[in-house]
Amino acid sequence: MRILLTGKNGQLGRCFQDALKGTNHELFAYGSDALDIADEKRVVDVVQSVKPDIIVNAAAYTAVDQAEVDSENAYLVNATGPELLAKQATKLNIPLIHISTDYVFDGAAVEPYLPSDKTNPQGVYGSSKLAGERVVAEVCEKFIILRTAWVFSEYGNNFVKTMVRFAKERSELSIVADQYGCPTYAGDLAKAILEICEQHDQGKMQAWGLYHYCGDTPTSWHGFARAIFTKAEALGVIEKRPQLKAISSDQYPTPAKRPEYSVMSTKSLSAIGVSPSDWSAALNKSLINSKGLV
Ligand SMILES: NC(=O)c1ccc[n+]([C@@H]2O[C@H](COP(=O)([O-])OP(=O)(O)OC[C@H]3O[C@@H](n4cnc5c(N)ncnc54)[C@H](OP(=O)(O)O)[C@@H]3O)[C@@H](O)[C@H]2O)c1
Repeated sequence: MRILLTGKNGQLGRCFQDALKGTNHELFAYGSDALDIADEKRVVDVVQSVKPDIIVNAAAYTAVDQAEVDSENAYLVNATGPELLAKQATKLNIPLIHISTDYVFDGAAVEPYLPSDKTNPQGVYGSSKLAGERVVAEVCEKFIILRTAWVFSEYGNNFVKTMVRFAKERSELSIVADQYGCPTYAGDLAKAILEICEQHDQGKMQAWGLYHYCGDTPTSWHGFARAIFTKAEALGVIEKRPQLKAISSDQYPTPAKRPEYSVMSTKSLSAIGVSPSDWSAALNKSLINSKGLV
């Protein structure tokens, strides 16, 4: 299968390239330098020349707070880019796999969000990602949108790497304890995408649509930090865990408002044979792989 990947240098992009190692698929991977997904001419040229069997869009504007003052660029990458990819996918009659976020929800729920639940993003990032979802669903006949959350890996910038860095610099840390979500290992998300690609390749994928893919166990940022320090200490990634203080979102104001509760149900994806991310197990792998890099 010929797979066109955008955003190859991001967390998901790099994990997807790892997931493809040892398979027979042909990967055509592009970073933003060679393929700006918001540049129509470039998108048309690349898709027409590669002639892929499937497109995986791992490119996104992910700076949640920066998006509040850079809305134009956030929309260009998160809505215009997916629209251009969707149009080319439709032209070739191939599927587009696109990634979205738990930040399309307002966080007022008390039980895990279903893909069909009402969206109400609280910031520009979430709104731009929702616009991307809508245009992909509108333009594409065959698409999978995976909403994911709290992504970490050995690559790029993420909460796990930030916590490890802080642990080396500080003896005490205050972490928000009233926002709940599902951490997701980008390597698991990459494998889930590969599974979907392969189901399509084998002619088994009929259930196109919108799904949730995230970690199997909800936690708070405070709980996530505690898990990171426990494992990092046991693995020798940090010498000593800092003292953790639980604080409220009010005590840690950010430019973009985050949902209090963005736990998502992954049941509909499990029903088509794709299991959620076992983030606790993946944390070990991510910490070992990033040892020395933090
Ligand atoms: N990270 C999270 O916690 C999180 C949470 C929920 C959902 N998600 C979603 O999960 C997906 C993967 O996220 P990630 O964590 O892998 O993101 P990431 O590490 O920030 O990577 C995003 C990549 O997109 C590229 N990009 C930006 N603008 C581009 C453009 N105009 N054209 C082509 N590429 C462009 C970036 O390249 P440059 O570096 O060259 O700009 C970067 O390599 C995204 O759809 C994101 O919205 C992420």
